[in-house]
Amino acid sequence: MSDQQPATDNILELTDLSKRFGGLLAVDSVGLNIKRGEVFALIGPNGAGKTTLFNCVTGLYQPTSGKVMFDGKDITGSKPHQVARLGIARTFQNIRLFDYMSALDNVRVGHHVRMKAKMWDSLFKLPRERKEEAVITEKSMDLLRFVGIARQANKYARNLPYGQQRRLEIARALATQPKLLLLDEPAAGFTPQEKVELMQLVKKILARGITVFLIEHDMKVVMGISERIVVLDHGEKIAEGPPDEVRKDRRVIEAYLGKSA
Ligand SMILES: Nc1ncnc2c1ncn2[C@@H]1O[C@H](COP(=O)(O)OP(=O)(O)O)[C@@H](O)[C@H]1O
Ligand SMILES: [Mg+2]
Repeated sequence: MSDQQPATDNILELTDLSKRFGGLLAVDSVGLNIKRGEVFALIGPNGAGKTTLFNCVTGLYQPTSGKVMFDGKDITGSKPHQVARLGIARTFQNIRLFDYMSALDNVRVGHHVRMKAKMWDSLFKLPRERKEEAVITEKSMDLLRFVGIARQANKYARNLPYGQQRRLEIARALATQPKLLLLDEPAAGFTPQEKVELMQLVKKILARGITVFLIEHDMKVVMGISERIVVLDHGEKIAEGPPDEVRKDRRVIEAYLGKSA
């Protein structure tokens, strides 16, 4: 299947996507297309609906209306595990790791989205399963190396410094072998140096052929790595374009400076 020509240049297409919570329209008829191989950023003030949009794409929330097309397939309303298996991985705004598992095991769990043998059936393993486990361990170590925290492999996730936990989350997401990686504020709480390193990491991820869909508040990070940006305000798309255009857009400036506040 992967040898076939892709049906479309767009890896993700959202059409009129809406999510309502009672009286609140958190995402309001948003349409956007993300091309294969680009870094696409979603920005907007707090509460704009960015994370909700990610949740609709990854199956954590059912959209109220609208369509989500991934890699030429309609995945609207699919469950998170189905979405993961199809090739979308994500990190969370609030880090979600298995605190009392080692960094290595956190990444191994990511691999199990794709493996036949269950990680937890460890007592009476068949040789084939044991071999599979060895391969997973090897690949997981490679990913820890890739994100730059291999020396922490055997430490509990909770004992890693904050910046390394963020990297570990990215490694775990990559372990599912995604085509599209969603990062929800990956640089939040980072030092300037950590932000530079994060941008380098995103470029390395891109070089692996993975498309990156990014929510980020830090404008330097957004402007530094994104080809295109969509701006949400009160659930609505208010601007779209390359960084240089978007930063000059009157509605964007107003949304950020809080004209109505
Ligand atoms: N599960 C939920 N139930 C009710 N309201 C929610 C839920 N998730 C998000 N919201 C609301 O939707 C709006 C958008 O939130 P969110 O998507 O987290 O914004 P952002 O990520 O842009 O800061 C907020 O007003 C938030 O309170
Ligand atoms: Mg958010």
